[in-house]
Amino acid sequence: MVAAEIPKIVVTPPGPKSVELMKLREKYVPKAVYNVTPIFVAESERALIKDVDGNEYIDFATGISCLNVGHRDPEVMKAIQEQTEKYLHLCFHITPYEPYVRLAEKLTKLAPGRFNKKVVLVNSGAEAVENAVKVARRFTGKPIVVTFEYAFHGRTRLAMSLTGSVHPYKYGFGPLDLAVHRTPYAYCYRCSFGLEYPACNMRCVEFIRDTFAVHLSPEDVAAIIVEPIQGEGGFIVPPKEFLPGLRKICDENGILLIADEVQSGMGRTGKMFAVEQFKVIPEMIAMAKSLGGGLPIAATIGREEIMDSVQVGGLGGTFGGNPLSCVAALKTVDLVQRLLKNAEKLGEKLIRRIREMQKKYEVIGDVRGVGLMAAVELVTDRKTKKPAKEERNQILNECYKNGLIIIGAGAYKNVIRFLPPINISEELLNKGLDKIENAIKNVIAK
Ligand SMILES: Cc1ncc(COP(=O)(O)O)c(C=O)c1O
Repeated sequence: MVAAEIPKIVVTPPGPKSVELMKLREKYVPKAVYNVTPIFVAESERALIKDVDGNEYIDFATGISCLNVGHRDPEVMKAIQEQTEKYLHLCFHITPYEPYVRLAEKLTKLAPGRFNKKVVLVNSGAEAVENAVKVARRFTGKPIVVTFEYAFHGRTRLAMSLTGSVHPYKYGFGPLDLAVHRTPYAYCYRCSFGLEYPACNMRCVEFIRDTFAVHLSPEDVAAIIVEPIQGEGGFIVPPKEFLPGLRKICDENGILLIADEVQSGMGRTGKMFAVEQFKVIPEMIAMAKSLGGGLPIAATIGREEIMDSVQVGGLGGTFGGNPLSCVAALKTVDLVQRLLKNAEKLGEKLIRRIREMQKKYEVIGDVRGVGLMAAVELVTDRKTKKPAKEERNQILNECYKNGLIIIGAGAYKNVIRFLPPINISEELLNKGLDKIENAIKNVIAK
């Protein structure tokens, strides 16, 4: 059991046991399956991880945002344990079970929009996205999906086709889905049009209108899929006009708006769904990651008539919405609802602190975030904005060696993202932030 609130490093990581296990990993697991740290975990609890050599870490990565309620939350664990006494797998298509329909009911009530909704439960974010697009194409009878630069939607064929970065996600994996059209996101720090907000008048939104007038008929477009705050792309927070602008374009052209809330949802920004921060109502939402409180589950939520446009048997899967994940998700959603204010409050403190760091360290070019979805973008020079990729990697390494697990993001591989549990104690949050500040100091002093 992870005991201390103050993590201890007993041997410089990776310790000997992790090194041994890494040899096995190298022998039997393809190198394409990347690892951010070379440490192997023995146990985890709340916001702490203990490795096989006895080192402890504060977790600001939470399994890439899958543990918004922390590791092994007692209420989630109890729900899982109780379910193991009843049944594990049945397959919802064969013999339905209550937790599936209860979770579907709950998600339809939580998702924004005062209209009837329906939910299909699946296993991963990529699957939730694939299903949203399948349904959008079926409902509209149109093929094309508009997606964004820097987007990340997963690693299956359609999801990677929607994804922005070629390396490493798409390179050599073609042919990709061709009915995908990519357009600039509202990445103000590196505006694709070289403009500045607000003088830009939201050129990135108007550009879609121009595209529809000349290059791409909106009559062929089924949906626009968007991360309300881009995740892997670098925690890019668009200006407040961006999502309402997309909503308007969709309404003008009979196009569906799909929000990929896989990373930004489940309370991360202080709201259940990040679209709520922008007061936008999409027709469909993809959810995954933190939904299961640590177990794999994902959901595609959509307007009833859209979801019901698909023929019987067109959606689903063997393990989709498995009972253990459903009961864990039911509990996790309750917990997140209680923690929204906390996420907002801690997020303000976190962002204040990284803004203070920005004043002290030139390497921090940009600070951005909403709630506890926050990031710093590192540059070698604030004027040229040259990405400080090497420095970023050194800082991340320095962090894990000193007891903080924290991960990067960004198409230019120069962003550090903060993903602590939304119920982390303030004390532990501050300790983690001290560790990152020390790492920045050490790396830039070298
Ligand atoms: C916004 C977004 N969509 C989709 C995915 C894919 O999710 P999964 O890895 O569960 O397939 C991710 C994963 O990071 C994501 O951040």
